Amino acid sequence: MHVVSVSSQKGGVGKTTIALNLGLALARTGQKTLLTEFDAQGSLGLSLGLADRARPGIAEVLTGAEQLENVLQRTRDPNLSVLSVGRVDPTTVAGFEDALTRGQTVSTLLDQAKAQGFDLVLIDCPAGLGKVTTRALENASHVLSPLQAEPLALRSVGQILALVDRVRATKNPKLELLGFVLSMFDRKVAASLDVAETLWTKFPVGVVMDAIIPRDEMFLEASLRGAPVLLMQKKPPPLARRFDQLASDVLDRLAPSQKAPTEDDTPIPLLV
Ligand SMILES: Nc1ncnc2c1ncn2[C@@H]1O[C@H](COP(=O)(O)OP(=O)(O)OP(=O)(O)O)[C@@H](O)[C@H]1O
Ligand SMILES: [Mg+2]
Repeated sequence: MHVVSVSSQKGGVGKTTIALNLGLALARTGQKTLLTEFDAQGSLGLSLGLADRARPGIAEVLTGAEQLENVLQRTRDPNLSVLSVGRVDPTTVAGFEDALTRGQTVSTLLDQAKAQGFDLVLIDCPAGLGKVTTRALENASHVLSPLQAEPLALRSVGQILALVDRVRATKNPKLELLGFVLSMFDRKVAASLDVAETLWTKFPVGVVMDAIIPRDEMFLEASLRGAPVLLMQKKPPPLARRFDQLASDVLDRLAPSQKAPTEDDTPIPLLV
């Protein structure tokens, strides 16, 4: 089972949006996917219209009050399940974070996910590289880091790479950087283009995911409606294709052999 932590040093860069839409895109390729939030704000649940704070979720699994299988929320896609934050009231955020970072709670949670037959777990981290994100990385196989297409974003790259190195050296030598994913890209804005150019030209090949997530009003509409962009219209909007591309790129990087060959992979006949 692969565990991908969606993490970034900066807040509001598109972690939750990417986790949600990528989760559905991965599920549609046949991967049994669990989307779980480690952010006490509960944005993932809110983005799905699961604003019911009385419903148990990860908070109860961490304390052992509930088993994972009893609190998983099934979705319209049989391969996608969601584990929302549970009964976390804003005054007990510190308690939630303590539960996530105490002892072996996260690894026990992931063992339960494995026992449920999930192929992939996507963790929606809170903003910043604090103790919750660190704990996610200590238990993840991979980290995917959204970078907002704006100049300050590049400054945060070194910080997340340093954390990945530290976690590798201390608790989790198997942790791998899946890649950075450029989000909120606007080709009409020069600064946005500059960031993309720097990423493509100055970073080693493979560090940046091929798919780019554009800035699009539909994300705001989607979060108001509590839906991934794919489900916003009867016919999937072109925006949804970006997440199919991202999912395909993610699967290639996780295990090249897992992806069924496509027509594009067929060798071109020799000319002579
Ligand atoms: N590509 C995009 N285009 C336009 N708006 C976007 C895009 N991605 C995200 N948004 C909007 O930007 C806001 C922040 O996005 P999101 O919640 O996904 O970021 P985050 O990194 O998870 O934030 P936090 O650090 O607070 O958890 C949301 O209102 C979301 O709808
Ligand atoms: Mg978020």
